[in-house]
Amino acid sequence: RMRRVILDTDIGSDVDDALALALILKSDELKLEAVTVVHGDLDVRARIAMKMLSLAGAGDIPVAKGIEKPLLMDRPVFWTGHEGEGILTPEDRDLKPASTHAIDLIVSKIMEAKGEITIIAIGPLTNIAAAIIREPRITEYVRDIFIMGGVTRLFNGMNLPYREHNIRCDPEAAKIVFNSGMPITMVPLDVTMKTSINRDDLKVISSMKTPFTDAIVSMVERYLEFRGRDYTWLHDPLAVAVSIDETLVRIVDMKVLVETRGEVADGQTIALPASVREEANARVCIDVDSSRFKRFFMERILRS
Ligand code: RIB
Ligand code: CA
Repeated sequence: RMRRVILDTDIGSDVDDALALALILKSDELKLEAVTVVHGDLDVRARIAMKMLSLAGAGDIPVAKGIEKPLLMDRPVFWTGHEGEGILTPEDRDLKPASTHAIDLIVSKIMEAKGEITIIAIGPLTNIAAAIIREPRITEYVRDIFIMGGVTRLFNGMNLPYREHNIRCDPEAAKIVFNSGMPITMVPLDVTMKTSINRDDLKVISSMKTPFTDAIVSMVERYLEFRGRDYTWLHDPLAVAVSIDETLVRIVDMKVLVETRGEVADGQTIALPASVREEANARVCIDVDSSRFKRFFMERILRS
């Protein structure tokens, strides 16, 4: 059954949000109904999304601005300064987002299409938490939500940060979402860091020579320069891919807790095995078939 999707994103800071949007647009199984942007300068984030949609011939899909600061307004907003490079030009200043606020758009879409809407959340969870506060019934009427966020397997031999960016930026929002009862599939950092794209992959994509793929390549190249690396992780695209084909990953039911009052670990996610005492609140990805996912991603990005 085709998924009707709202993408909630902090597009522009890490390039993987743009790659996730591209993957959605190239996937027939997903019908993108709205993009909502969150965290930081939302005019810039909205323009990046609108420019990508228009290059893909999907300029009629609404892009709505949500909430700029974390819920409690007492945590720093992450902004790198390179957002928009590689895609926005001075003329794009005229791109205008939807007049509807992202929270209203999320709520109305879910309430109008009961049981139909899937949220793919690939930024801090501020917008989603605010939508739940605004209309708690969305937790019953949403079809499901795929969240790129958190770390659940700290000791799997990888050099992992103990907190993940999307949850750390707004732990209170994350706690609201994980406690909400929405059907959650969590795609955490310990799994997404097994996936990446490199300069050789970019060469292949650049051979397509469409305005859309040229923009993708240019954004990724700028990001690799910014990071000083020859590869970058496909965190957010993996969340999109799991919404289409969950055989790409291994999933287990778990109880995910979010630390909000730690001295050093605010925003840490702790995932406990589901049991009689710990009722599961999320389906958690614990591994990925990296090479199959990479083929899945590249084959779709190269579709004309
Ligand atoms: O930790 C990875 C997440 O943080 C991704 O969503 C990436 O886009 C960055 O924002
Ligand atoms: Ca992101």
